[in-house]
Amino acid sequence: NSGDRVPALVIGSGYGGAVTALRLTQAGIDTHVVEMGRSWDTPGADGKIFCGMLNPDKRSTWLSTSTDQPVSNFMGFGINKSVDKYVGVLDSEKFSGIKVYQGRGVGGGSLANGGMAVTPKRAWFEEILPSVDSNEMYNTFFPRANATLGVNTIDQTWFESTPWYQFARTGRKTAQRSGFATTFVPNVYDFEYMKKEAAGQVTKSGLGGEVIYGNNAGKKSLDKTYLAQASATGKLTITTLHRVTKVAPAAGAGYDVTMEQIDEQGNVVATKTVTADKVFFAAGSVGTSKLLVAMKAQGILPNLSGEVGEGWGNNGNIMVGRANHMWDATGKDQATIPTMGIDNWSDPAAPIFAEIAPLPAGLETYVSLYLAITKNPERARFQFNSGTGKVDLSWAQSQNQKGIDMAKAVFDKINQKEGTIYRTDLFGVVKTWGDHFTYHPLGGCVLNKATDNYGRLNGYPGLYVMDGALVPGNTGVNPFVTITALAERNIDKIIATDMH
Ligand code: FDA
Repeated sequence: NSGDRVPALVIGSGYGGAVTALRLTQAGIDTHVVEMGRSWDTPGADGKIFCGMLNPDKRSTWLSTSTDQPVSNFMGFGINKSVDKYVGVLDSEKFSGIKVYQGRGVGGGSLANGGMAVTPKRAWFEEILPSVDSNEMYNTFFPRANATLGVNTIDQTWFESTPWYQFARTGRKTAQRSGFATTFVPNVYDFEYMKKEAAGQVTKSGLGGEVIYGNNAGKKSLDKTYLAQASATGKLTITTLHRVTKVAPAAGAGYDVTMEQIDEQGNVVATKTVTADKVFFAAGSVGTSKLLVAMKAQGILPNLSGEVGEGWGNNGNIMVGRANHMWDATGKDQATIPTMGIDNWSDPAAPIFAEIAPLPAGLETYVSLYLAITKNPERARFQFNSGTGKVDLSWAQSQNQKGIDMAKAVFDKINQKEGTIYRTDLFGVVKTWGDHFTYHPLGGCVLNKATDNYGRLNGYPGLYVMDGALVPGNTGVNPFVTITALAERNIDKIIATDMH
């Protein structure tokens, strides 16, 4: 309620926010999480909480009248659908040179993501975050993150035989024939549940075309792990459908946090201000960076570092599809949960880590689809636009060229060996590379640059950054394990030294 005073306020309930909430509440601190999306705990008229990918409705999409699928086209047809405007689970936030997909709701990205839980390569982690003690990370905080997230691995015997992963076996075989190494990838989707889905014993989710608009079962999203544990302490309050718009020093001590309450169609129905002793920014790389850049530019938090807004990257994301021969089918039945990757990261000529991605269309497509994380060194910045009052992101689509070149080196080789070609009909009417969007926004408030070495915002005691904004642009693998473990490390220090 307006006028309230709280000890700790967390903006956002994704990975950074959920870790913060759990560790603060366990330390006995009353913690208030403010989340602009809804709580995904109540079924709709069809008895389901989330809608599937092949029959999307308003629950799919954040405040838009059309879905905006990453694979937007198929054989010359656009496959997006009209939906009612609603606070749906997947947002595609548009900047001039890139579209950024993000999850919306209690659990943030964990609601919409593919669950791939990858610990980054140690040498690369040490290169991007040299101020962080990597012994501590790899001995304590990565294991803690993986355990609390509920990471598991697929039963490899089952993987080899199930029709649901034929697409991954075909992707592996074609990569290996060209000399590329492949690796199994851990996930937070419960693979034992998935086996029961395949056996017809439980309701299908990962085998039922559900993932980017939410999974009705199987996936251990943050609302089932970190946030459920935090809630069990009795010290957690989550306020949904409230969007933080301003954080300003309060008279006396602490910070005034202004927020807009929205209804399920996104209309602002109230504006409130509460005062918090400590404020934790966990609105994601984009959300946190936008807030801080605007606060600095508008003179509300003028002493923030000039590094705020800098160092943003798309984790090198490039998507592409190949057309296999008819004797290398990928299967009409495909799990939505990826579990295999091509690991070519250590090859300086083509450093990529590519997820062999499903394309669960319900029919045989012969397509091998990949989400490549390339070692693209390009970065961009967030800047306040005084004309529009909004924050722009400087990323230009041409900055993807280095990433495309790296991915092309790998997939050209596979195509050459196999005698196959790229699919040009998946990302537009004729467009080979899915380079106009990212799933993995990182940076904008980089650790030990825009903040101190633990996420404290310089010049403003009691303000912290806890999310993907801390990670400098590219972590070489799918990012949520990195974000979670870094948040575990930082909150450990902050609770020990700042919270008394
Ligand atoms: P995150 O985005 O999770 O959370 C931020 C939260 O803050 C959101 O809930 C948002 O609504 C809220 N918020 C924002 N602004 C606010 C404001 N002003 N006021 C109040 N609330 C606000 N990663 C991976 O490792 N493996 C994978 O398989 C995938 N797959 C994948 C698929 C898809 C479709 C997407 C969109 C993303 C992925 N990812 C992924 C990426 C992963 O989900 C992402 O890196 C993390 O969710 C980022 O965690 P953060 O804590 O930084 O923010």
